[in-house]
Amino acid sequence: MTAFVVQPARSCLHGTVTVPGDKSIGHRALLFSLLTQEPVRILGLGDGADNGRSAKAIAALGAQVSRQDQAVCVRGTGLAGMRAPSAALDCGNSGTTIRMLCGLLAGAPFATRLVGDESLSKRPMRRVIEPLCTMGARIDGPRDARGDVVPPLTVGPAAGPLTPIQYELPMASAQVKTALTLAALYTRGVSSLIEPGPSRDHTERMLGFLGAPVHSGVGADGRPCTTIDTLRWDGRLRGGDLEVPGDPSSAAFLVVAALLAGAQEVRIENVCINPTRTGFLDVLEAMGAAVEQQPRHGGAEPTADLVVRGAAPALKATEISGSLVVRSLDEIPILAVVAACAHGTTLVRQAEELRVKESDRIATTCAMLRAFGVSCEERPDGFAVEGSSGAPLGAGAQVDAAGDHRIAMAGAIAALRAAGPAHIGDADNVATSYPGFVDALAHLGAAIAKV
Ligand code: S3P
Repeated sequence: MTAFVVQPARSCLHGTVTVPGDKSIGHRALLFSLLTQEPVRILGLGDGADNGRSAKAIAALGAQVSRQDQAVCVRGTGLAGMRAPSAALDCGNSGTTIRMLCGLLAGAPFATRLVGDESLSKRPMRRVIEPLCTMGARIDGPRDARGDVVPPLTVGPAAGPLTPIQYELPMASAQVKTALTLAALYTRGVSSLIEPGPSRDHTERMLGFLGAPVHSGVGADGRPCTTIDTLRWDGRLRGGDLEVPGDPSSAAFLVVAALLAGAQEVRIENVCINPTRTGFLDVLEAMGAAVEQQPRHGGAEPTADLVVRGAAPALKATEISGSLVVRSLDEIPILAVVAACAHGTTLVRQAEELRVKESDRIATTCAMLRAFGVSCEERPDGFAVEGSSGAPLGAGAQVDAAGDHRIAMAGAIAALRAAGPAHIGDADNVATSYPGFVDALAHLGAAIAKV
């Protein structure tokens, strides 16, 4: 099992790095290209194992996937041409792969089995299954102790043609929104999906680019509303080049490393700055940490170089709640590390969704901080972190990352501000999103080793 040993930072970090292509956008580029009539070239796809699961899944469903120089080329099957896979599709650790495949396969005339690793096999799937079944899909799997449905799942064959849906999502979730949007492409009529608050909109941007009749807007009451109107659509998706910018959720670890250790100049190139993803930059600003955004010429997604310079700033506590939680959802473990170094008590509220991520991230984030001697109170919908006011965190931390990539990386960054070395165990799954994490951090001057 992979572990990291990390030494406290002795000097400023310095250097220029790129991060892997955005994981969310990469999944969409792969899964949506299966549905196109024309070839797609995906540029900048990340090398994480999660995106690899989506690539294998579309190949098993009939896409031709090849590498040409830096691009991944996909020849899709179109909406109607998918073929039944010869074996179960293994989604590994990837919640995005399995939930989006539920929507993609909802109308298929064949059955597909979707399996995952130990963590994925505990994650709730009812949130996609229930609305998809009202559209006519047939999806089933075992129940867990909460009464939710968990993988392995069997999807299809659909009872008949799917019907459009008008649905209010109980939580802001781009995975659920995307699964339903994909299923809606198989219906004839108008579907509308209303969310309690805005979630990431990569699906709407990319499907729009490919020519799907998908529009995002705002409902009468101000809530975000995605509309899929297939009435005048010929059912064809075109191809073209899909550019995947750098992953802000991976960049966040390096940004925080540079802020906590201080930076001569740390530059992270070409990062996606879609506003649905940059909540962590707003939180950092509220805590007194400046991150410069130098805009680049983006495609469907805005991008920028993120630049950190100067001595570690004095940090102050903040509150993360409401739409800021959704805009910084995957960054909350690393923001908790910033909170641990700040002055005052930081509150994370209305973040119960963290309980059903790759681990129960309310519990695992608190446990990770406690390993550094940080006082942290777990609450049903979040936690409170008492900051050290800049004093070093505890030496000799033994962090159990619980198989969660983001807890492992957050623990490694916390170690930069500790009084002595830290050991981060159960870190293999860093490879699901950021296989080059250790090398990037070492390139910037941190003392980190895989053991
Ligand atoms: C994702 C959406 C979010 C996020 C996940 C990726 C996506 O999940 O936490 O890492 O690519 O759509 P939810 O949709 O469950 O909020």
